Amino acid sequence: MPATDTLSLCVTEALHRRRSVRAFTSEPVDPSVLASVLAAAQRAPSGGNLQPWQATLLTGAPWQAVKDAVAARIAMGREGYQPEYDIYPKELTDPWESRRFRVGEALYASLGIPREDKKARLGQFMENYRGFGAPVMLFLHCSRIMGPPQWADMGMWLQSVMLLLVEHGLASCPQECWAMYGAKVRQTLGLGEDQILFTGLAIGHADTGAAVNQWPVPRVQLDEVIDWRGFDR
Ligand SMILES: Cc1cc2nc3c(=O)[nH]c(=O)nc-3n(C[C@H](O)[C@H](O)[C@H](O)COP(=O)(O)O)c2cc1C
Repeated sequence: MPATDTLSLCVTEALHRRRSVRAFTSEPVDPSVLASVLAAAQRAPSGGNLQPWQATLLTGAPWQAVKDAVAARIAMGREGYQPEYDIYPKELTDPWESRRFRVGEALYASLGIPREDKKARLGQFMENYRGFGAPVMLFLHCSRIMGPPQWADMGMWLQSVMLLLVEHGLASCPQECWAMYGAKVRQTLGLGEDQILFTGLAIGHADTGAAVNQWPVPRVQLDEVIDWRGFDR
């Protein structure tokens, strides 16, 4: 969709249009659009106005270098694994475990991959480490001294970036899977030990015909997460 058609999107529309896109076309992304998105996202709020987010944006050879470096770690098997942090709590209980299970099932069902086909599931998971074919990768990191409040700030910045990309007719997929090989990503990017990698964000033009981009992503009912008190509704 041309950028001019989308620049007047309201927030609600952008929220509904955004989804994690897991198949991109090879069409390059205009760097001036990225610059405009990142300038606007700088308006994201943060406690104490710390603006703790730091990002490294890659395309072309530098992006390929990260993919190659991480592929070499993956080839090492379990020894190559270098997690930056626990992506999920070690003991993920319900209701969260069921939500995670359900979205995984829906994703693989969209591709016609049955539960017992572990090889195909792994193959699809490994697409993560190609950035699902996205021409641009943004790595979001911050100083290691930052704690949960600043990580929440990073999330707000990330959502701002994702919605602004939608406004410009672009798509994205946040990818914390890169944190499983965080040390290698940081080393390849030339980031010091003082930095911690939160997530990748694959950016590009959605392959709108791909089944993996078309299934309805479930959300729980509002009353499962919101507790209204004192209202006359
Ligand atoms: C911080 C963050 C990291 C994520 N990491 C991954 C990832 O590594 N791979 C992936 O396929 N999806 C990843 N996701 C996408 C989530 O699975 C997705 O946001 C969720 O299922 C809701 O779907 P939607 O984004 O399409 O609305 C991540 C999302 C967030 C917010």
